[in-house]
Amino acid sequence: MRTQVAIIGAGPAGLLLGALLHRSGIDAVIVEQRSADYVLGRIRAGVLEQTTVDLLEQAGVGERVHAEGLRHDGTELAFGGGLHRIDFNALTGRHVMVYGQTEVTRDLMAARSQAALPTWYEAEHVAIADYQSAHPRVTFEKDGVRHQIECDFIAGCDGFHGVCRASVPPAAITAYEKVYPFGWLGVLADVPPATEELVYASHERGFALCSQRSRTRSRYYVQCASDDDVARWSDDAFWDELRRRLPDEVAERVVTGPSIEKSIAPLRSFVAEPMRFGSLFLAGDAAHIVPPTGAKGLNLAAADVGYLAQAMREHYGERSDAGIQAYSQRCLSRIWKAERFSWWFTSLMHRFPEAGEFGARIQRAELDYLVGSKAASTALAENYVGLPLA
Ligand code: FAD
Ligand code: PHB
Repeated sequence: MRTQVAIIGAGPAGLLLGALLHRSGIDAVIVEQRSADYVLGRIRAGVLEQTTVDLLEQAGVGERVHAEGLRHDGTELAFGGGLHRIDFNALTGRHVMVYGQTEVTRDLMAARSQAALPTWYEAEHVAIADYQSAHPRVTFEKDGVRHQIECDFIAGCDGFHGVCRASVPPAAITAYEKVYPFGWLGVLADVPPATEELVYASHERGFALCSQRSRTRSRYYVQCASDDDVARWSDDAFWDELRRRLPDEVAERVVTGPSIEKSIAPLRSFVAEPMRFGSLFLAGDAAHIVPPTGAKGLNLAAADVGYLAQAMREHYGERSDAGIQAYSQRCLSRIWKAERFSWWFTSLMHRFPEAGEFGARIQRAELDYLVGSKAASTALAENYVGLPLA
């Protein structure tokens, strides 16, 4: 096979890149190691920045997010038994959209199959070669048959555990990492959300988050130990723990029901630099991870592929490699700001076992300052709704 861009990974980064390139008349093939159903079954992000929604529109899949997404103009911070609203719209003129990663993925997959664009699911032994040259290759096996793709560029959209970053010699890449001493236990349930907007709760028993996917589907999280086992958590134990961490006025409105998904996610900050190696570009979780507190992971992945699609358009359309040269630096300057925000919001809202009572008092003072100061609230709002694309 021959194509212009070989995309590894059919998560949101790979699928969105494929759609943006298609719109620009650039050929791409996607190679994914899992099945489409498996990719759709992973329950992850729920909050989209306006810039992400804009990119979905550009990719031709903006219709359903506008029809079914829930526009949120603010969020609630809960601490000390009370609720404190951060009004994004009043502070920044912007909002976010609640629309699940599953739905983004579904829309992109549907558009891709409608346009009959090539996607190889359940590809085994995916490998990349010659990416330092102008003729890189991707090889894989499907149903026991070996395939090779010759291309101009490889987009490594294969997530944190993918093959692309792992194929770069360690000496060529610098990784910056922080692992947090806790995880998030998440439950998805077909019950109406307790509140209109998301609630980020700081409590002495640990962090909790009330999120949602629709008016009839809720997503809740509680901070748990890093080595906790999801099998230890019955639905009842989860609902009890969640309610204990919420202010009474929210706890009494939590509607419980059987979980349709329950899992534990570790929390990590990670950045690999640079993001381009010759003809290989890393994008999304393949290059960086943020703890989910700021709801930035999917949005960063979308921004990366927005820059990459633009670089490809300049290369093929205008015969300019300026966008290719600038790709890594452009992405990283925005990524580090999102890393900082996600680290800060995580540090503010979670219980850190080693920080003790002094640490807890400092967090409380910062929360009081945050909700009492327009400057501080604006800084939170501006980062949460998403910094502008450079
Ligand atoms: P992925 O979604 O990981 O996709 C990578 C794809 O590559 C996968 O399909 C994988 O199967 C495939 N792959 C891997 N290895 C290979 C290989 N060798 N060959 C071929 N294919 C391969 N982000 C937000 O913006 N907002 C939120 O509210 C939010 N909440 C989150 C909540 C949780 C609990 C978690 C875990 C994450 C959350 N995130 C959130 C983060 C977000 O889900 C990720 O940042 C996003 O999925 C990144 O997309 P991606 O396409 O880069 O990577
Ligand atoms: C989610 O709905 O899964 C979600 C929302 C906000 C976050 C993280 C996750 O900060």
